[in-house]
Amino acid sequence: MRSKVAVIGAGNVGATCAFQIARHGYADIVLLDIVEGLAEGKALDMAQAAGIADAERHIIGTTDYALTAGSAVAVITSGITRKPGMSRDDLAATNAAIVTQVTREIIRYSPNCIIVVVTNPLDAMVHIALRESGLPRTRVVGQSGVLDSARMRMFIAQELDVAVEDVSALVLGGHGDTMVPVPRLCSVGGVPLQELLPPEKIEAIVQRTIHGGAEIVSLLKTGSAFYSPGVAAAEMVAAIVQDRKRILPCAVYLEGEYGINGIVVGVPVKLGRQGVEQIVELRLTDSEAAALKKSAEAVSSLIQALNARKA
Ligand code: NAI
Ligand code: 2OP
Repeated sequence: MRSKVAVIGAGNVGATCAFQIARHGYADIVLLDIVEGLAEGKALDMAQAAGIADAERHIIGTTDYALTAGSAVAVITSGITRKPGMSRDDLAATNAAIVTQVTREIIRYSPNCIIVVVTNPLDAMVHIALRESGLPRTRVVGQSGVLDSARMRMFIAQELDVAVEDVSALVLGGHGDTMVPVPRLCSVGGVPLQELLPPEKIEAIVQRTIHGGAEIVSLLKTGSAFYSPGVAAAEMVAAIVQDRKRILPCAVYLEGEYGINGIVVGVPVKLGRQGVEQIVELRLTDSEAAALKKSAEAVSSLIQALNARKA
């Protein structure tokens, strides 16, 4: 039986993600948005592109959650985006309400699905989806590290003028200004990055990675990045639906791993049909571990602020 994937939010990220899944052709897709006609129009457009793009034509758009019933994976991209000068955290209250409502609807029709959260502030929204869905932590995961690591890979490839597919990079932590790029674990064709670039160049790449989202927001003026985020989310969906056991950095609820308890933060996981099938515990240096803890504390503070607002 073919899998069904629901993509909630037919805006920039949701539509890009849906079309990338369609291009892989392994699942039927239901694109849903609160705005009447938006998901229907985009889905019809994508279906009509299928014959040219060698993509899946089984893609429908709707405002009705009943059509998402039985989805193996639901991707949450619904929410507002940041404007220049705003941080991802500034979106918290509005998007918390949206993610709460959307998660309840997803679970009503697909009680055993795996949820991939994209909406910002990402780590806090994973907390909310986890709480509202009642799913185990292995079935609620956030997209952050796939995108942040892809940005770092691109900057390294650009600096060295090499093919990006030969560059391996890793970014841990929350999807915000405290994220933790780990140059020690980056390599190019198997050669450690630290043997290829001087420290000041590496530090410049680290800083550009951390501020990669803001760089695009300031150029676009309205809205934020969507090609790379949409494709990153689709990569996670493919790993799950195709049971690929990919090792990808994802936002997941930690229960003692990395010395962090009860907080969602980005770490490498094995992603397959069961969702998060393993949390990979890397041996970090003291400074890397401290940076990861600091990042987790930033996520924790935001959740506390959201909880206080709710109370
Ligand atoms: P967008 O504005 O293009 O699309 C958002 C869509 O959500 C809109 O079509 C809107 O109608 C829909 N929506 C709002 N409330 C809804 C509800 N209750 N039910 C269903 N649909 C609803 O925004 P874009 O660029 O697609 O970004 C979406 C979210 O993803 C933002 O919060 C953004 O910050 C976040 N994001 C996260 C990234 C990550 O790496 N985790 C990367 C890029 C964006
Ligand atoms: C990004 O990193 C806005 O989170 C989004 O581009």
